[in-house]
Amino acid sequence: MANNDASFLKLFLAPVAKYLDDDSVSEILVNGPNQIYVERKGKLELCPEHFPNEASLKAAAVNIARSVERILDDMYPDLDARLPDGSRVHATIPPISRVGTIISIRKFKKDALSLDSLMKFGSFTEDGAKILNALVKLRKNIIVSGGTGSGKTTVLNCLSSLIPEKDRILVLEDSSELQLKQPHSVYFETRKPDKNGKGEFSIRNLLIASLRLRPDRIVVGEIRGGEAIDLLQAMNTGHDGSMSTIHANTPQDTLARLETCAIMSGIEMPLSAIRSQVAGAVHAIVQTARLMDGSRKVISIAEVMPLDENKDYRVRELYRWKTTRVDAEGHLEGHHELAERPTFMDMAKVMQLDMPWS
Ligand SMILES: Nc1ncnc2c1ncn2[C@@H]1O[C@H](COP(=O)(O)OP(=O)(O)O)[C@@H](O)[C@H]1O
Ligand SMILES: [Mg+2]
Repeated sequence: MANNDASFLKLFLAPVAKYLDDDSVSEILVNGPNQIYVERKGKLELCPEHFPNEASLKAAAVNIARSVERILDDMYPDLDARLPDGSRVHATIPPISRVGTIISIRKFKKDALSLDSLMKFGSFTEDGAKILNALVKLRKNIIVSGGTGSGKTTVLNCLSSLIPEKDRILVLEDSSELQLKQPHSVYFETRKPDKNGKGEFSIRNLLIASLRLRPDRIVVGEIRGGEAIDLLQAMNTGHDGSMSTIHANTPQDTLARLETCAIMSGIEMPLSAIRSQVAGAVHAIVQTARLMDGSRKVISIAEVMPLDENKDYRVRELYRWKTTRVDAEGHLEGHHELAERPTFMDMAKVMQLDMPWS
């Protein structure tokens, strides 16, 4: 089927066709007919190409919408769609966008970075990998936290690759990005409401449905809002070994952010109860960041401890990145180091897991 690849895209988007074919390009950003950027290795590059004019660019966007049976017009000036090849397309037409039609294409990554390649890139060391492996094998509930583009989804994908093959894994996402190797992985994707506001199927709906599908592990692509409460409840009711990502800058922040998201669910619950839920549900946080030199790293792995006597969150850092020097060109020197001993060392020994501590 011709529609099963991105060939029709290339037809509509002739000026950027070569970037659609170029595997080193992860994202294509068209800001009106006269400005095109692409992302390569996390860096944006301005391209020399242009569209002939706004009318042809807008026609391309409308055709893309039609090809996925969606509408893009004056009434519905905004399109967010997944293409048959897995890429995401977002398009906005004037007057909502002021420079002309905007199109962004996030290409589907064919092979996600493996644990070994992340180690090679210096994202974490062998010690870090051992800790991550232990967290997954001991069925800890893990949240990967970090800024946009800091490598959260990549790390989540690596963590999920450490899940034993015998487990039944349910993967719930807004747009399909994760690629698990395990044969017993079952994928779900949310659905946006249609133009009449009907038919939405959210991460919350998926979480509730998934609990009836006998999951051994639940992997949620990203927590952005009220679905936090459903994930926390799932984690607190025996679905250990689940994992997700969230936008936050430190492990402490992650817990506060989860709390805020849980409150967004509208569920009436005293703050102290929500905090106990958060602290009880989440066992570990893996913090990612994009550093000054553009490198992406795991900058902290922390264990979540029970609330203190003031009902505040407590974390215990097990592993961290330490920057020791930044030169004038912004080059970074530093190293990963072990911090505190995990509280689960005894269990890790029982399970004969290789740990950086003895
Ligand atoms: N450690 C790394 N080194 C190099 N590139 C990375 C690393 N981690 C992630 N990437 C790349 O960075 C981009 C953004 O990563 P992603 O995991 O999608 O970030 P996030 O989920 O935080 O937005 C992807 O193209 C990914 O392949
Ligand atoms: Mg992501």
